[in-house]
Amino acid sequence: MKIITIILSLLGLSICLFTCTSRYNSGNDSRGPQYAGAARCVQCHQEIARSYVHAHHYKTSSKTDVDVVKKIITALNDTVRFPGNQLVRLETVNKGIMQTYMLNGGQVAREQMDFAFGSGEKAWTFGYWRDEKLYQLPLTYLSELKRWTNSPGFPADHPDYSRLIVGRCMECHSSYAAVERNLEGGMRYTEKIDPGSIIYGIDCERCHGPAAQHVAFHMDHPDEKTAKFMTPIKSLSRQRQLDLCATCHSGDPVNLRSIFAFVPGDTLSNYYMYYPGVAANPDAHGMQMQSLMQSQCFLQSNLTCTSCHDTHKNEGSMQEVFVQRCMSCHLKSDHAVAMRSAKNDCISCHMPLEASKSLDFNNSAEQKNTSYRLRTHRIAVYPDSK
Ligand code: HEC
Ligand code: HEC
Ligand code: HEC
Ligand code: HEC
Ligand code: HEC
Ligand code: HEC
Ligand code: HEC
Repeated sequence: MKIITIILSLLGLSICLFTCTSRYNSGNDSRGPQYAGAARCVQCHQEIARSYVHAHHYKTSSKTDVDVVKKIITALNDTVRFPGNQLVRLETVNKGIMQTYMLNGGQVAREQMDFAFGSGEKAWTFGYWRDEKLYQLPLTYLSELKRWTNSPGFPADHPDYSRLIVGRCMECHSSYAAVERNLEGGMRYTEKIDPGSIIYGIDCERCHGPAAQHVAFHMDHPDEKTAKFMTPIKSLSRQRQLDLCATCHSGDPVNLRSIFAFVPGDTLSNYYMYYPGVAANPDAHGMQMQSLMQSQCFLQSNLTCTSCHDTHKNEGSMQEVFVQRCMSCHLKSDHAVAMRSAKNDCISCHMPLEASKSLDFNNSAEQKNTSYRLRTHRIAVYPDSK
């Protein structure tokens, strides 16, 4: 009898939990009923929601916006040549844009740019769907150079249409994608991605964790001004705060489990195992965490990523904002004060642009090595800046 009562009440509780939360979720969030969906946050967090739609995180994956891409296709740079009379051409066809591979004037392959990776702040690379598999297209756009180029790491001698975009890319560039892994004998496997399950961009709950209960509670208690059912990131320990950003900004370690499951407060070492020695020489691309850890600013203070970055905003290239953040700690330095008065930014000397060693575009017939440059996060005095 006791057991039955317990089971019944547990059942009741779980039904209540489900309906109480699902009442306030959007109903179609592919992550499950514990997620509310970004549209639900706007009502009570208007200011953040409004600025966030301009942030690069929000735009880091999308269905290809044909109108936007059309603007960067011009007569000058819509063709990339490969050795031996091969080229890839961008073509607008009906409502899509194609990447067409021509050899000696004859068409070899032609696929549509269905999926865009990156906000386009620095680069865009594209994918096409076939049988629930997403393949990377041969041409990538580099925003700084305003130029199309062979995609990074692609073969130099011919345009390649066979490179699979795996679930791992989605883990850092989207909020969710259902991925099915099929072993193909030995260590080889392929991955199918369910297109309908994708939540494009990095949304509020990708960083803050599932929020349907939070929404349900505050809808029912409009006078409550303290957040319920929501982990306050600011009050987490320094390491846990760093872990959140490091899920996507500490390179590509061995995955112990999918980081789609990561929520604020989690310990990243339960998800990742880093290769020994990798932190000694971090790449400028994707490894901001390891670079920052080598800085005196990091070693001698409680600095976190959010000491300098407000991830709800697009603050790209707003040098004055960053100078202010440096000065929040360096007011005692006469040098820094003088530099600031002279309207110098700090980062051109102390966080110089550094070429990525891991991204390689050195492969098409018409271009020399093209570098991909980012701000190093190893803040220091560099010889050149003297
Ligand atoms: C019905 C109103 C309401 C909705 C809808 C709502 N929130 Fe909140 N939220 C609040 C209130 C009230 C607070 C506490 C005051 C504050 O920090 O703004 C809060 C605080 C927060 C905090 C700060 C927690 C802390 O203590 O640092 C986060 C993060 C948050 N909400 C995320 C979300 C997300 C994500 C969504 C959408 C899925 C969402 N909220 C939807 C009412 C709401
Ligand atoms: C789910 C993965 C993910 C998480 C978590 C994440 N980032 Fe990012 N971040 C990215 C990706 C992907 C980009 C590239 C965006 C683009 O396409 O331009 C990016 C870009 C950035 C940029 C450069 C663009 C800009 O907004 O100025 C900054 C700064 C940044 N992230 C800081 C942070 C900080 C700070 C945190 C932790 C609070 C964080 N990120 C958490 C994936 C992530
Ligand atoms: C890239 C990760 C990331 C994304 C995406 C993100 N946040 Fe945040 N959010 C943070 C971090 C980190 C903090 C803590 C900031 C701090 O330490 O000051 C924060 C703090 C907050 C707070 C409390 C402090 C404040 O600024 O009022 C609220 C409310 C909030 N976020 C809501 C949202 C909403 C709503 C969205 C979507 C529109 C969103 N966040 C998207 C990382 C993120
Ligand atoms: C471990 C997380 C992670 C993985 C996995 C990952 N990326 Fe990224 N990606 C980032 C971060 C962080 C940035 C931006 C900052 C940087 O370059 O350091 C970025 C930048 C980009 C950009 C340039 C966006 C811009 O405009 O700044 C493109 C395009 C891109 N990634 C495509 C891909 C593709 C395609 C894959 C899979 C083959 C992939 N990424 C895998 C984290 C990741
Ligand atoms: C949270 C506080 C904090 C912030 C923010 C901060 N720093 Fe620092 N920084 C420190 C501390 C502490 C030291 C070590 C003591 C010192 O040299 O003043 C340091 C050291 C330095 C050094 C000397 C490095 C060396 O190897 O000798 C430089 C240069 C520097 N910071 C530049 C910057 C710049 C540029 C910014 C902004 C992009 C910045 N810092 C932001 C705390 C901070
Ligand atoms: C033109 C290049 C340049 C610019 C711009 C610059 N610095 Fe420096 N900075 C240097 C050099 C060189 C040193 C080493 C000075 C020395 O060894 O005497 C230095 C040293 C420092 C130090 C450590 C020594 C000290 O005085 O505490 C800090 C902190 C620092 N800079 C912060 C800043 C900040 C903050 C800004 C922006 C307001 C800035 N710097 C702008 C070149 C620059
Ligand atoms: C001391 C200040 C400071 C800290 C701390 C800091 N950043 Fe940055 N970050 C910057 C500045 C300055 C830029 C260049 C912004 C620009 O020019 O638009 C930048 C740029 C970036 C970019 C874009 C890459 C590029 O070259 O434009 C990413 C991604 C990023 N930061 C991630 C992070 C992450 C993740 C952390 C924590 C591990 C972090 N940052 C900590 C100051 C900082």
